[in-house]
Amino acid sequence: MSSLSAPVKPPGDIHRAWWKESSVYQIWPASFKDSNDDGIGDIPGIISKLDYIRDLGVDIVWLCPSYKSPQVDMGYDIADYYSIADEYGTVADVEKLIKGCHDRGMKLLMDLVVNHTSDQHEWFKKSRSSKASEFRDWYVWKPPRIDENGNRQPPNNWVSHFQGSAWEYDEPTGEYYLHLYAVEQPDLNWENPAVRKAVHDIVRFWLDKGANGFRMDVINFISKDQAFPDAPVQDKDTPWQWGDKYYANGPRLHEYLQGIGNILKEYDTFSVGEMPFVKDTAEVLKAVRHDRNEINMIFNFEHVDIDHGPHGNKFKPGSWKLTELKSFFERWQAFMYNNGGWNALYWENHDQPRSIDRYVNAPQALRSEAGKMLATVLALHAGSPFIYQGQEIGMGNVPIEWGMEEYKDIDCLNHWNLLLKSSDSGPEAQKAARQEYQKKSRDNARTPVQWSAEPNGGFTGPSIKPWMSVNPEYTKVNAADQVKDPNSLYHYWASVLKLRKAYLDIFVYGNYELVDRNNQHVYAYTRAYSDSKALVLANWTDYELSWDAAAQKVNKVKEVLLDTYESTSMVQGRFSGAQWTLRPFEAAVVLLE
Ligand code: NOJ
Repeated sequence: MSSLSAPVKPPGDIHRAWWKESSVYQIWPASFKDSNDDGIGDIPGIISKLDYIRDLGVDIVWLCPSYKSPQVDMGYDIADYYSIADEYGTVADVEKLIKGCHDRGMKLLMDLVVNHTSDQHEWFKKSRSSKASEFRDWYVWKPPRIDENGNRQPPNNWVSHFQGSAWEYDEPTGEYYLHLYAVEQPDLNWENPAVRKAVHDIVRFWLDKGANGFRMDVINFISKDQAFPDAPVQDKDTPWQWGDKYYANGPRLHEYLQGIGNILKEYDTFSVGEMPFVKDTAEVLKAVRHDRNEINMIFNFEHVDIDHGPHGNKFKPGSWKLTELKSFFERWQAFMYNNGGWNALYWENHDQPRSIDRYVNAPQALRSEAGKMLATVLALHAGSPFIYQGQEIGMGNVPIEWGMEEYKDIDCLNHWNLLLKSSDSGPEAQKAARQEYQKKSRDNARTPVQWSAEPNGGFTGPSIKPWMSVNPEYTKVNAADQVKDPNSLYHYWASVLKLRKAYLDIFVYGNYELVDRNNQHVYAYTRAYSDSKALVLANWTDYELSWDAAAQKVNKVKEVLLDTYESTSMVQGRFSGAQWTLRPFEAAVVLLE
């Protein structure tokens, strides 16, 4: 009997669900594909690429915010949840996109951004118009604090995620409003039942249009400690401190999540919640355990914060080791599997730099191998894999030579502007900051998708200036070349996803165990289900090395299921004996006896 049909008996208590078996492709509309030559990606552009996405073998398309917005934070500042930004298209285009996905057997996930709105939303305009407005209580307003010198100060010392105080003073009404993100992104007051009702209406509106669920933006921030206490001082160099203790997974979070979860259940849809700052796995379980009816899975941040500097300062250098990365995965994998939760697996998204430049340091000639290794390691964990546009072809970070005029992201630009105003703004400080931007700025993920070797990477017309420059690597790294090349990263991703489905019990429902924990060069883990066990083995270095398989008691291989260098027919029998040779960045998946 071939191992593809090897018997694997499900343990009785396993919870099966279509969304656990699915993988997701994330689209960031501004940079995906421009169909009308205005230099900005749009929904018809996405529709034109649906076959490309389907051929990758994903099940769900996640559309980042495309709603009407002044685009201060690229659509995460929504001015109207019921209309689509003119530059992206219309509600009718989204309906066509939903149909286009459904026709191809895929589902569409929308982005739900309801911790905050844009300051241009009608709700906020009315809220700020007067203290007596019926919308006043839709946002978080507080009187100033007066310091010992009689000066006006924000109500507390919380720092905004986009630098500076999290409070903005509003002269006409003499109060501050809370904005955990940009000044133009006021936080909604979820204590107010009218706000919750308004969110539920939005959810139903898009589900009624056929959307299959939501990715929920910073959803664990919606319930805040109503005392709004000062945050503990961690960074003495600034008055503004992380207040997450008082707003991440706050007192009423689960009640609020159930409010949305009940609606999602009615429609058999699914949700993934973005949850920064959460390290308490037991708390996460309350949100994701399958019988809780809240959300299906979360994005946690431990592995993407791994290279941040002290006090969570991402634009300060940080160093990390492979053992640390492995330990993060081990913790979440085991915890979720043993307790009925579920993981969202990701290396990249619109907020993170490119994985190929973050997690590995691959020389030019080995970038494709490195990308294949990262694909294997990520997607065969327990969880639903998320692939961010361009990751499937191995797009890289922006070139180090790029000047500041190429950077567009508010987070990065706010940091830069504060630096220029600070006492330490000399050439050395500027150089150090720019090096960190090239490593960690969100702009790295936001350059247009490199569709071909045509001018502008085929993203927009050849003579059009795109809203953000195309990474000049497009002549070498682009989708058209990779679709033609059966050995490309694109096709490799497709084989990983196919393997995951072919051995669903092992790779979706199987147990996870870290192997060779202390090895700084190899990431190895097993996935086991009933009497079947697979080993995922990855050389994290750019040199050939020998792995002591005997020491790990995994020397009996039944079949090689996948290898990053060669087709499986070529490598059968390669992994045997006590020591296994792994080529630079080689990853392999083998079925064990
Ligand atoms: C998280 C989103 O992923 C990010 O892009 C956005 O800036 C913030 N939330 C604020 O909405």
